[in-house]
Order: sequence, then C-alpha cells, then structure tokens
Amino acid sequence: MKDKINNITKEDIVNYLNERDPVIINELFQYANKLKIQCRGPEVYFRGLIEISNICSKNCYYCGIRSGNGKINRYELPYRKVMEEAEYALEIGYGSIVIQGGERSDRPFIEKITHLIEDICRLRKSKIGITLSLGEQSDDVFKEWFDAGATRYLLRIEEFDRNIYEKIHPQGSAIEKHLHSYDRRIKAIESLKLIGYLTGTGIMIGLPWQTIDNLADDLMFFKDVGVDMVGMGPFIPHPDTPLYKELNNCIFWNNKIDLLDISLKMIALLRVLMPHINIAATTALQTLAPDARECGILAGANVIMPNVTDFSIRGDYQLYPGKPGIGGSNTSDDVMATKELLVKRLKELNIPVGWDKLGDWR
Ligand code: 5AD
Ligand code: SF4
Repeated sequence: MKDKINNITKEDIVNYLNERDPVIINELFQYANKLKIQCRGPEVYFRGLIEISNICSKNCYYCGIRSGNGKINRYELPYRKVMEEAEYALEIGYGSIVIQGGERSDRPFIEKITHLIEDICRLRKSKIGITLSLGEQSDDVFKEWFDAGATRYLLRIEEFDRNIYEKIHPQGSAIEKHLHSYDRRIKAIESLKLIGYLTGTGIMIGLPWQTIDNLADDLMFFKDVGVDMVGMGPFIPHPDTPLYKELNNCIFWNNKIDLLDISLKMIALLRVLMPHINIAATTALQTLAPDARECGILAGANVIMPNVTDFSIRGDYQLYPGKPGIGGSNTSDDVMATKELLVKRLKELNIPVGWDKLGDWR
C-alpha cells in the first residue's frame, strides 16, 4: 500500500472497492487512518450544524425537502435563534459552525445570511470557522458571503457522471433544466475555489444506476478539482421522493453490495488519494449503524458535524428517513447529550477532539 500514496490509480481504486477479503479491507482502513494521523494529526474536528431552513427552490429526486414534497412543514429559523445556536456551538467547544439549508436565491434570505455571518464573526475575537451549505448561488452572492467572513463552502456534485446526475434531477421544463443543470453545478464548484473558499464537495454513495466504476471516477474528480473538504454519505431512499421507485436499478440497495462497507472504503481510498484534506464522517453514514461515524473516523475521516439545531424542528429537516438525532432509539436528541455521547465513544476509541480549533488544512 505504501508505494501507492502518490500514485494510486483509478484501477487500484476499483480493485479495492471490489475487494471482499476482510483482511485486505482492514489493512486499507488502518493504512488510511495512519496516513491521516501522519498528515493531519489524531484529532477529530467538530462543526456544529445549524439547519437554518428547509425551504428549497429545487426538486432533487432523492431529497425529502424537495420543493415538490407537500408533506412537510416548511420553516425558517429566526435570526435570533440562529445566533443563539451559533453561540451555543462555540460555547461548547465546537470551533466551527456550518449553516445549512435548502437552496434559495431571494434577496431577503441572502442578506439575512450576510448579516448572520458578520454577526457570528463578531462573537469571538479569534477567527471563527463558518461553513456554508446553501446550494448554488451566483458568483456575486458567493463573493458577498465570503467578504462577510465565511471561509468554507460545501456544494456536493452528488454524482460526477453527467448521465446519472441528470437522471436524479428534474430535466423536464426549461426552468427545471436550468435549476438542475450539471454544467452550472460544476461551474459553481469552480467559482467557489476561485473566490477563495475552502471548497467542499461530495457525493451520495449507492444511488440508482451508480456503479463501482462511477464511484472511482467520483474520487478522481475530487482529486482533479483539488477540493479541500469532502462529505460523502450513503444514499438513503426516501419514500416521498421519485428515486424511491428506482431502487430496482440500484446495485447497492439490492443488497448485492454492502453499503456501509463501500462507504468506509470510499473514505479510506479518498484519504490515500488526498492525504491532507478534511473528510467528514457524515450523519447519513450513521443511519447505517449506530457506530458508523466512528468507523468512518477509523477509516480515515477527521470531521464530524454534530447537529446543534433546536430539537423541536429537526424532524422537519429530513433529507432522508431515519436521520439520527430526531427521536430514534439509538441516538440522543439534545445538543448536549449528542455531544456527550460522541465524546464518550471517541474517548473509548482513544480519538482526541480538536476542541475550539478550526481544523483547516491550509
Ligand atoms: N440520502 C442521502 N443523502 C441525501 N441528501 C439529500 N437527500 C439524500 C438522501 N435521500 C444529501 C445530498 C445533499 C446533502 C445536503 O444531503 O447529498 O447535498
Ligand atoms: Fe434542495 Fe439540496 Fe434537497 Fe436538492 S438536495 S432539494 S437543493 S435541499
């Protein structure tokens, strides 16, 4: 494995993704974890996640809060509430916060975000890591938020293969085509980099039509773009979405391939491919097993995004069903309990937390 650090090829990646031998798979995880510790240190960084709004102008076929889903209550957190949650996240030692929400391009929303960023930056004398995950915006808006003080932006490519991308996003009318354009997506990711954001992207693993070959291409795409952060999680079918009906076109959900296993392999292979970047162990991963996020850390991930959104509205932000932290049986539901449980589990595994640290790699 050692000789592959600088030159792991797509072919190697495909081979590892297809590997069934648990000894070899374990070796890969251990190698990736060691490489992470060497390049980034042993710490895991926490980013407090604020789910600001589930109002979205898009209608992605996989997502529970898509505009076409009439079954959910739409909400937008009041300004003061977001400030309170941000302050609380910082107070409990999360060095960074993530503001995530549905995609909106109306001016009042954009300005609200701008002012929030400015106000959150004023909460501390030292630098606060603010990550945005608010979908595709014009270059001017990306720039406005960057100038206000946000330093990182997450915009997943969802799936690099154009054909699949277009199958999982509405392409009927001209407006739909424009809103869910593959080219616009790629351009937005490039813009974020040019503007100066630490740029994050990612995919869903286990989508209908997706193959092992696609997953290897996804990893190569991250490398080609030169992203700073990646969040990948399993695709979790949501019954109120059109993709739910396409599960027969899915090699993963047909149980032919173990989704947890492949998700962890993706993390480990990405660490080998890009040893220095930030890789998240996602919440979606946790839906596959209660300790899956910790497994993600042991396979090479170094970031966790604990939810700091008020428990009372979390149920309305279900991109996928079975989301942890909204009243399930194996997770804790308030912010403090979430934190304590996580810290306890990490401690048991001897994994230190980078309290109050930004944890940026450059
Ligand atoms: N399963 C897993 N992840 C999903 N997302 C949206 N819907 C689902 C789903 N059904 C992810 C997308 C999006 C991120 C915010 O949530 O990748 O970029
Ligand atoms: Fe909106 Fe994002 Fe869901 Fe697509 S994935 S419908 S852009 S919240």
